[in-house]
Amino acid sequence: MTNLKLININNQIQDDKKLILKGLLNKKQKYLLSKYFYDEKGSKLFNKITNLKEYYPTNKELGILGNLQKEIRKKLPINSTIVEFGSGSNKKINKFIKSLSEPKEYIPIDISKEYLFENASIIAKKFSDLKVTAICADFSQTNRLNKILKNKKKIVSFFPGSTIGNYLPKNAKKILKNFSKIIGKNSYLVIGVDLIKNKKTIENAYNDKLGVTAKFNKNILNVVNKICNSNFQTKNFDHKAFYNLKKNRIEMHLISKKNFTLKINKKNIKFTKDETIHTENSHKYSKNNFVKLVNKSGFKVLKHFTDKKNYFGVFLLKVK
Ligand code: SAH
Ligand code: AVI
Repeated sequence: MTNLKLININNQIQDDKKLILKGLLNKKQKYLLSKYFYDEKGSKLFNKITNLKEYYPTNKELGILGNLQKEIRKKLPINSTIVEFGSGSNKKINKFIKSLSEPKEYIPIDISKEYLFENASIIAKKFSDLKVTAICADFSQTNRLNKILKNKKKIVSFFPGSTIGNYLPKNAKKILKNFSKIIGKNSYLVIGVDLIKNKKTIENAYNDKLGVTAKFNKNILNVVNKICNSNFQTKNFDHKAFYNLKKNRIEMHLISKKNFTLKINKKNIKFTKDETIHTENSHKYSKNNFVKLVNKSGFKVLKHFTDKKNYFGVFLLKVK
């Protein structure tokens, strides 16, 4: 395909090893960063989650994006360059591309290489007038991404799925600040955020009856095994997800079913029965709290949209 280009700048395996070890050797609470869910299998499992009846965020966001098509066309520039952070599957971008007036280029950025390239080529085939440049990168590689995007004009960026919620609010602020630098002055960001609602609905979304979320959670250990050459056995862990009311977030953990010791890079890591590895936070925001966060992050809010039940928010932002 002549309109498709694939770039890989994600060569951080040594950093990944260090980050994983730091989390597993943490005395207070073992943890793993949630970006390690996403190898090809993890991305496919996440896609399965988005089709579950309990996992409301995807359907709610798709509904909002559907209703927004006219508004997006009116407010956002013609012939834009679309930059998508943490692109995943092509479900949402399909709608978004159709909403814009004659976009010139689509640049999805994701760490999950095979899944990214597969989905980018589907988009390139479907929209043959659109240049597609897929970049396998960690979206916190600000300087590298900045250089690649330096000469792009009329950038409209897209960060759906409430991936921003997977960061502590203070880090979410930093990420948005970095995005504002990557895309530059006068550029736009359309961002999806999961909103605070009743605890039961949220907890059900992370404890589905079919156990897909449990599989997704355990897959992080397979990814760690690949990066660190370690020998975690997923069968020795159970999935746990609960809503932390004080912090307005879902926490996902893996509970060890037994005592054991594991070696990574000559370091012994001890696990005791019932001890957990904290694998993910998924923060939920009120509209006002998210607006406050945005205002401190280099963007201003132009408009806010939600669904009838106020389950999910889509915010249209512009770099200040
Ligand atoms: N945007 C999609 C996918 C959300 S899942 C949707 O709304 O359905 C989160 C996505 O972000 C995954 O595809 C994952 O691979 C990617 N991701 C997570 N952390 C990342 C990081 N630090 N840098 C780049 N991509 C990341
Ligand atoms: C990608 N991210 C916003 C999802 C979430 O809801 O936090 C990941 C996920 N974890 C469990 N289910 C889905």
